[in-house]
Amino acid sequence: MLKDKIQKALNAQMNLELSSSYLYLSMAAYFESENLNGFAHWMKVQSGEEYGHAMKIYSYINQRNGRVNLSKIDTPQSEWKDASEIFSDTLKHEQKVTQAIDDIVDLAITEKDHATNTYLQWFVTEQVEEEATAINILDKIKMVGENRNGLFLLDRELGMRAAG
Ligand code: FEO
Repeated sequence: MLKDKIQKALNAQMNLELSSSYLYLSMAAYFESENLNGFAHWMKVQSGEEYGHAMKIYSYINQRNGRVNLSKIDTPQSEWKDASEIFSDTLKHEQKVTQAIDDIVDLAITEKDHATNTYLQWFVTEQVEEEATAINILDKIKMVGENRNGLFLLDRELGMRAAG
């Protein structure tokens, strides 16, 4: 059985993952409007991954005989200046998610909930990858700068991302 505090924190994290999914879908829509279809594809895959993260938490809460509670998802931002701003926001968002995961790990340790602590280690590792990926793409965008050919090639590369 989950302690109330832990259940609340996990439900909040599930909401944050769903918000992430919604944000990345909004970023995909922006890229579609800019005819950057490879970038849009990458963001759609990312959005699907975030939905998967939310569902992992959904399953875990149920496995522990807890209660899943869905809450409101805020309207995501819909306009950005360019791809660089989007990936800079992506990195900031992932850093926020990392902090949220770390906070629940801290809570699980304080509450001596070893199962939740162990379960969340998957997310701790995943966040390292999420931040590294955002930094890597941001670096490539900076490298490309104003070069349209470079942007075209990067769009093609991101368009090859396999569904997670
Ligand atoms: Fe599920 Fe990108 O954090």
